[in-house]
Amino acid sequence: MKKTHEYLDSWSLLAEIPSGNEAHAELLRRAALDICAQDVPGNFVVLSQEDAVAIMLASVISKHTRQMRILFLPNAVLEKCAENLGRYNGAFSVRSLDGLLTEKQNARNWLGKVAFLHVAGVSQAEFCLELLERQLSGQAVVMLETVRPIDLKCEGRLETVVHQHESGIQMLKYCKAAVSNNAIPSDLIAEFWEDDPVKRGILTLMSDNERFQLYFAVRRLLPLNSHLIRFIEIGSFQGGTFYEICRALQRQALLFQGISIEPELDSSLDGVLRLFEGSIVHLRMMSGQAVPMLAGYLEGGVLPELMLIDGDHRYAGVYSDVCNYYPLLAPGGLLLFHDYLPPVNEENQEFIKQRTGGQSGVGEVCRELVEQELGLIPIELPLLYPEDPVQTMAYQPIIPGVFSTLRAYRKPYGHGSRA
Ligand SMILES: C[S@@+](CC[C@H](N)C(=O)[O-])C[C@H]1O[C@@H](n2cnc3c(N)ncnc32)[C@H](O)[C@@H]1O
Repeated sequence: MKKTHEYLDSWSLLAEIPSGNEAHAELLRRAALDICAQDVPGNFVVLSQEDAVAIMLASVISKHTRQMRILFLPNAVLEKCAENLGRYNGAFSVRSLDGLLTEKQNARNWLGKVAFLHVAGVSQAEFCLELLERQLSGQAVVMLETVRPIDLKCEGRLETVVHQHESGIQMLKYCKAAVSNNAIPSDLIAEFWEDDPVKRGILTLMSDNERFQLYFAVRRLLPLNSHLIRFIEIGSFQGGTFYEICRALQRQALLFQGISIEPELDSSLDGVLRLFEGSIVHLRMMSGQAVPMLAGYLEGGVLPELMLIDGDHRYAGVYSDVCNYYPLLAPGGLLLFHDYLPPVNEENQEFIKQRTGGQSGVGEVCRELVEQELGLIPIELPLLYPEDPVQTMAYQPIIPGVFSTLRAYRKPYGHGSRA
């Protein structure tokens, strides 16, 4: 067995733990590394009581993941390994699994999308796969510890044993292709994937469904009333959605100008802005500061036909962005928001509270200001994967009934503009 420097490093920690099994841990390590390398979305769920496994996975995720992940572990393991687990940081956190699997519906929601499932024994595997199948990522890995081969009935396809180890561990790959919406033309879907920032390694905080909806809006719903198409994005982060909008406009061979309002500038956003040099403006400031400047700049000129409000998500922040920027939107233009959550009800309250901490935000501003006061009606955008329960980031809990948090409106032609 080839021992890399990193492996030995992790093993020195494992050696402290009596139940460690070198060969077994190496098999798991490689599977976890693959998930991180391929950026398979989702959390790691580990039911086995082995401390070595927990430590090994924490080590791999902390060093290699490119997206946020949660490592769910049995509480007994968490308690025993607290000190060792505490040595790892990075884009991951560790949570207790206890209690979650007994609450069937909630288990699904709290665990989010699953990229890695480690179970011991056939009956545990059957139970977990039946429970979690709906949210296993395509390419998820299921590690099963049983000597006898299994015939698991689940809707997707679990490739027969990919690897069987003498220690009794079997590695199975889940290969269910996500079913895309057949009402969407296939050429639009193909172009979306070609223009997808995630494919280029540019981070965005939108899910596949949300990115597709944004792409659809830019490709199919802009009024295109002018020779120049302007758009404003409040909150560009690392440039993911800004890149996507620019690419969708380029696809239509449109002359465009993208205005990014983002106080931070990291190397990723800088790279994106350079790609579209000549067609973009970056206002490196908060949206409130940029308004007077923009109003002057746009005065008498072409107004933006698209605005994506994705900056400060607190109620007061979103409220003032709408008050300040809506007058600058061209009549017939699109007003988009990210992180819209529906009104709280009995079914979703726990999960919405977990996301918002009980604070009002985008959803409340959309309903109270945009819909009730301004009288705008939400536009339905097609979902690429109508059955995918993940709304934004794969690691987050699934909010029942929410398939996307992108919210879209069109400014009526009768509504005036200020600039
Ligand atoms: C959710 S991220 C934007 C994600 C991005 N649209 C994407 O998905 O690729 C929010 C960003 O808004 C920025 N931000 C926060 N408050 C802002 C404000 N008042 N004006 C402009 N940007 C703001 C933050 O710096 C952060 O980068």
